[in-house]
Amino acid sequence: MIKVGIAGGAGYTAGELIRILLGHPQAELVWILSGSHAHEPVHKVHRDLLGDTDLVFVEKPDFSAVDVVFFCMGHGKSAAFLEGHSIPDRVKIIDLSHDYRLKAEGNDFVYGLPEMSREAIQEATHVANPGCFATAIQLALLPLADAGLLTEVHIHAITGSTGAGQAPSGTTHFSWRNNNISVYKAFGHQHLQEIGQSLKALMPAFDAAVNFVPLRGDFARGILASVYLDCDLSQEEACRLFDRYYETAVFTSRFEENIDLKQVVNTNKCLLHVAKYDGKLHVTSVIDNLTKGASGQAIHNMNLMFGIAEKTGLYLKPSAF
Ligand SMILES: NC(=O)c1ccc[n+]([C@@H]2O[C@H](COP(=O)([O-])OP(=O)(O)OC[C@H]3O[C@@H](n4cnc5c(N)ncnc54)[C@H](OP(=O)(O)O)[C@@H]3O)[C@@H](O)[C@H]2O)c1
Repeated sequence: MIKVGIAGGAGYTAGELIRILLGHPQAELVWILSGSHAHEPVHKVHRDLLGDTDLVFVEKPDFSAVDVVFFCMGHGKSAAFLEGHSIPDRVKIIDLSHDYRLKAEGNDFVYGLPEMSREAIQEATHVANPGCFATAIQLALLPLADAGLLTEVHIHAITGSTGAGQAPSGTTHFSWRNNNISVYKAFGHQHLQEIGQSLKALMPAFDAAVNFVPLRGDFARGILASVYLDCDLSQEEACRLFDRYYETAVFTSRFEENIDLKQVVNTNKCLLHVAKYDGKLHVTSVIDNLTKGASGQAIHNMNLMFGIAEKTGLYLKPSAF
């Protein structure tokens, strides 16, 4: 059994990790650290887990008892946590925050997008899990970047309210968010950096713009990204390119039929649809922001790092209605 610790246990991504890990046949949750809820039963915060676990949030981590730790804390907190704790070299770390996603001097975290870096993740001790928008958007573009076919990219992508974390705010208040839709961080979303880093890694000559307009949707979970660019490939050639690139991917595939969010919510899948309209190639990508966009992908990375079957613990059921 892989012995697991979680830091930042009371938030949304931790809640999702706990749900999946409780059903993972080769993982055992040993401790869940929470600064805000230490000594309280886990089901008091993650209330859907009532009856599923008697675990209590702890105040202090015990690194000698675990093989891997997931960091589920907010921006900047993972780096501060690493500085404040001495974690043995044998303990693997999977960080869900933004802190280690960008390459920099001294950063030994491998960017954890299995569709791009499966072998490097298998060898890694430290993995930086990608952002949710970044996952949906990169999976729509990687085959084109890998083939050197990227041109200026245009993206609209809409996310559910859980993407903003558990803390209530004006833009997650039910009265405002319900039956509503809005644009935010147009052309300036922070995930553009990691998207650009991956695209450049696959296609070093790419220097056109990636234009990204994020939208807030009035649903709790999921991301739909609508991506288009100029492309000389025929529809058949583009579809073949995507199928070839994702031939060995266990969670990401292209489908002929149109796709929608409910096919992936609660699962670790990314579904893609590729269509050609005159000179434009249009790619639709759908994921669940908390599973494929965060905790499911983190467990996929754990499975790779420990050399077990990639889908272990991740046979999850979508909510079709
Ligand atoms: N939400 C997503 O869809 C998503 C997707 C991909 C990546 N991420 C990234 O993953 C990281 C964690 O995101 P998140 O959505 O899990 O954030 P979150 O729900 O806002 O939780 C963040 C932290 O808040 C703390 N917290 C403090 N008071 C709390 C309270 N009253 N109730 C619950 N938690 C409380 C928790 O730590 P303590 O338990 O120690 O207090 C938790 O680690 C972030 O860096 C985020 O950018 C999020």
